[in-house]
This record gives sequence, structure tokens and C-alpha cells, in this order.
Amino acid sequence: MKKTQHKIINADASNMDAIPDESVNLIVTSPPYPMIEMWDGVFSEQSERVKTALGNKDAQGMFAGMHAVLDKVWDECDRVLANNGFACINIGDATRTIDGKFQLFSNHSRIINYFASKGYSVLPDIIWRKKSNSPTKFMGSGMLPAGAYVTYEHEYILIFRKGNKRRFSNSERRLRQESAYFWEERNVWFSDLWELIGVAQEIKKKSVRERSAAYPLELAYRLINMYSIKGDMVLDPFLGTGTTTLASIAAERNSIGIELDPSLLEVSRERILKGKDELNNRINKRIDDHLGFIASLSGEKLARCYDANFHSFKVKTRQEKNMIIRSVRDIHRFAKGHYLCEYSDIE
Ligand SMILES: C[S@@+](CC[C@H](N)C(=O)[O-])C[C@H]1O[C@@H](n2cnc3c(N)ncnc32)[C@H](O)[C@@H]1O
Repeated sequence: MKKTQHKIINADASNMDAIPDESVNLIVTSPPYPMIEMWDGVFSEQSERVKTALGNKDAQGMFAGMHAVLDKVWDECDRVLANNGFACINIGDATRTIDGKFQLFSNHSRIINYFASKGYSVLPDIIWRKKSNSPTKFMGSGMLPAGAYVTYEHEYILIFRKGNKRRFSNSERRLRQESAYFWEERNVWFSDLWELIGVAQEIKKKSVRERSAAYPLELAYRLINMYSIKGDMVLDPFLGTGTTTLASIAAERNSIGIELDPSLLEVSRERILKGKDELNNRINKRIDDHLGFIASLSGEKLARCYDANFHSFKVKTRQEKNMIIRSVRDIHRFAKGHYLCEYSDIE
């Protein structure tokens, strides 16, 4: 029976001593966003420099200080990420008025500069568009020029590669084939615009819900399927409510999550232990969507498809023939912060 392991740790990710050097294949994460007011407290608790800059209304000092906090975590990410591994970072830029001056703080370009300076290859990124229909979303001088501001309704998913292209060993080659995604998934996942809606959070405690800033399961699930193979180790140094752990379970990868706030870690625990149905729904949807896609093909196109070797559906390309999609059979805790996931067998 296939199994994966998942660890969640309550710690400050600027020190990830529990994780050996170069032992992680993929990082999928979303940090607290510098210059977004809801994160001011989190940053000033971690930095006197930020606290002072906030007090002095020193916008550039705040921006620099907050990114210095993140840099310490990125330094640790760099240490634990394997050569040829990927880092996928969801980040939004911030707009804010400080001392009467409205401006944009470009978090994404600051983070790109950090990874480029460390020698990473900066790969094409994804715009995650989160459209709001609110009529009050526009800021500034209304219908009178020239003091209105463009409304920001997107975030970025930055993608970096450490070192050169990954080479796969013989056993990894088999797992890579198993980990293939569908042709039609490729066409959507590898586009540079994702229009995902944020999921309604099911966190009961209001104070915790307000600070969670979770991304949708779909976002992490796609990235993990795109940039790792089964059995790989996925890390989220800013785990929040545990979305990356859940997506790793669904994608049959191992994972480690680090989170500073113990109350959010409690949310992760609950989500992991109750996650089986939600994850199987996503896994089943993947297959249902594929069956729908195959059913939509004309006779001529269908005739050019292949039989999958381990499933009873057809696939569009030869590369998809050996893919295996398992459902989650059981998730249980086997030690403090350690979870074991078992998967259904494929005949
Ligand atoms: C944007 S949220 C992550 C949300 C997460 N992607 C999810 O789906 O729930 C950022 C998280 O980073 C945590 N955090 C902030 N500084 C940290 C640090 N130094 N080490 C570990 N976690 C930290 C915050 O408590 C917060 O939960």
C-alpha cells in the first residue's frame, strides 16, 4: 500500500534546524505580505526595525524591514532546498497611504530580486486574478482626473529553480511517469493567468479566521502536481491553516509545514485529520473532468487517443499512459505533529 508522511512544526521558519540541508524538492508557500496592514503586528513582533519604522511612519523603512524578516526565512529555504528543486511563492503587492502619500509596494519584485541574487533561475510566473464585483473597489478621485488609482485584483505566483534542470534516477523515472498530469490539465495549469476564487474558510474562531489568509487548495494542488513527482518532499515554511499539507496528501507527496502561530497549527491539525473526503472529492473531480473531456472528443480525435495502462480511461498523449491517481484511504496521527496517509491500491 502506498503511504506518505506529513510533519507540522510550531516554529519560526527563520530557523529550520529540524530540516536537513538540500532535503526538500519543492517549496509551495505564501508569506505574510509586507505593507498589508493585517500583517504589521506579525512583522513588528519579529523585528525592532519594523516596529521603529512603523512608529516613525517611515514607509521605506517598513518595507525594507519587513522584507528583511522574510529574507531570513528565504535563506533557510535556500539551505534546505535540493539542487534542481523549485520554489513557488504566492505573494501580493500592497497599496497603502502612509503620511498622506498613497503608493504601491512591489513585494513580488523585491522577492524576485532576492532569489535572482542567490543565483536562482527566475521562471515565468502566474498571475492569480481574484476579481471583486464590489462597486466600492475603486480608489481616489472618482470620475475626475487625475487622482484615481487602478484597483489591484491580482496576486503573483513566483516560480524559481535552484541550479540546473533535474535529472531523474531510474526509480524516479517510473514515479515521474506515474505523476503525469492530463493533457487538458497541462493546457490550463501552464497558462500564466489563473482565475481561482478564494475558498470560504471554515474556521470557527473569528480572530483566527481573520488572520489565516489561506489560499485555495486548488492553487497548491496544481503547483505540487506541476513541479514535483510522487514521493518528493514539499515544504511550506508559512503553513497557516495547512493547505499545502492537504494538497501534498492529495498529490501523494510527503510534506513538512512550519507555522509560528500555534492557534493556526491547531486549525491545520483538524483540517488534516478531517481532510479525507475533501481531498477525495478533488481527486475524483480530476478523473470526472477527464472523462468529460474524453467524451467531448470527436470520433477522429478519440481514435488517436491511447489506453491508460493503470486506469480504464483513454488519454490524449503517450506521456499520460502510465499515470496513476490514487484516492486517500486513511489519514492518522502517529506521533506529535506527524501524520501518515495511506492510499487505495490500483489493480
Ligand atoms: C499568508 S499566511 C499563509 C496561509 C496559508 N497558505 C494557508 O493556506 O493557510 C502566512 C502565515 O505565516 C505565518 N508566519 C509569519 N511569520 C512566520 C515565521 N517567521 N515562521 C513561520 N510562520 C510564520 C503567519 O502566522 C501566517 O499563518
